[in-house]
Amino acid sequence: MAKLGFPFTLGVASGEPAPDGVIIWTRLAPDPLGQDPQRPGGMPDTVVTVRWQVAEDEGFTRIVREGTARAERRWAHSVHVKVAGLNPATEYFYRFSVGAPFAATASPAGRTRTAPAASSLAPVRFAFVSCQRYEHGRYTALRHMTDERPDVVFQLGDYIYEYGKPAAPAPGRYVRKLEPPERACETLHQYRNRYARYRTDPDLQAAHRAVPWVTVWDDHEVRDNYQGTLPGDGSDPAAFRRRRAAAYQAYYEHLPLRVRPSDSGLQMYRWRPYGRVADFLALDVRQYRTRADMLGAAQERWLMERLAASSARWKVLAQPLFFARRLLPGPPPHVSTDAWDGYPALRARIANAGVRGLVVISGDVHNAWAGEIMADFADPSSARTGVEFVGSSVTSASSVTDADAVLAANPHLKFFDGRRGYVMCTVTAEGWHTAYRAVDFVDLPGAPVRDVAGFTVQDNRLVPDTA
Ligand SMILES: [Fe+2]
Repeated sequence: MAKLGFPFTLGVASGEPAPDGVIIWTRLAPDPLGQDPQRPGGMPDTVVTVRWQVAEDEGFTRIVREGTARAERRWAHSVHVKVAGLNPATEYFYRFSVGAPFAATASPAGRTRTAPAASSLAPVRFAFVSCQRYEHGRYTALRHMTDERPDVVFQLGDYIYEYGKPAAPAPGRYVRKLEPPERACETLHQYRNRYARYRTDPDLQAAHRAVPWVTVWDDHEVRDNYQGTLPGDGSDPAAFRRRRAAAYQAYYEHLPLRVRPSDSGLQMYRWRPYGRVADFLALDVRQYRTRADMLGAAQERWLMERLAASSARWKVLAQPLFFARRLLPGPPPHVSTDAWDGYPALRARIANAGVRGLVVISGDVHNAWAGEIMADFADPSSARTGVEFVGSSVTSASSVTDADAVLAANPHLKFFDGRRGYVMCTVTAEGWHTAYRAVDFVDLPGAPVRDVAGFTVQDNRLVPDTA
């Protein structure tokens, strides 16, 4: 291969942890924001053999798996290795190389952790985050989250935002420059460079390098409020289908997923078991959506079957959108029809499916909330059938909310906080604890982390930590 610049500018990542394996990822991009669409990442149109190693120790003296993978221009020279044959609930280290000797030309080393065995009752510590609009601030919350070394991170959507630089940015809301020329993403090249811009951030790189991620997407990975194959704004559907396919491909190319896009789609709803403690069900609320249905028939059938079959103590729906009813002050319609409030019959089928230990984790609204899921949200005396924890954003600016009015109008909602942050959960067969963490500012680096609130779950009710 012709001499390249350092190819690991976008770092390394791992994801989709299973009891016996994990996906490890990198992408060769010596010029990550290169302007030539024919040379993504500044790479020539050649197939590159990438060597990889997985070891038990950070010094790579006890290598347990190694091999090679092909990096092709068709996939922007990204590499997704399905590492198998590992031990459950075990920490591993991994790295890549395109030169020789290996150690002298290696990528930074990543750390990962496999999921526990199916029979495990060991506690699960996971974090969840969402909404990390690059131009809105620093990823300080991710840095603090990484310091806590969770077993796994769930990213609940808006990993990128497709927007270009606004003509008149609101004060304090445009504190970092997008990749040049700062336009909205529509083509594959533009989406690729948007991910590359995000992934050159040192805090985001460090978070991927230290912890395996499971990601679900929301709308901004493609376009604001899109529905299935419809753009949501009445523009040309054929052009939107091409744009969506480009966005899905770039998403795959930059995240440690187990599956590739095919037929312009990408299978994203999936089950990630963590022993007998938690079954995580990652949902796709965008790809199959119509005005009448959020999940599509096949995904709903899959979800209901998985919920019924699960013998784990907790069934966790990992998905972007506010699940509980949230009546909003102001002019009609008084609910967000883009969230589950737009699909109340589907929500009621899930809430009333008789699931023991139902927990929904969500994002999207750029503020932190917590609430109880009701059998019938219109009837305050109806049974509680689960709980919901809504994370704030990592950076994305919050829309102004009259939180007191919303809490008063929705007695099943118990908590609000308006700062950027992340959420840490510690889950066992006996109990569930959620801790909200926040930072006071994101326009500059270095904000300290704050404990905001904590809750345990008892009989589908939220019990606040006593101070
Ligand atoms: Fe968002």
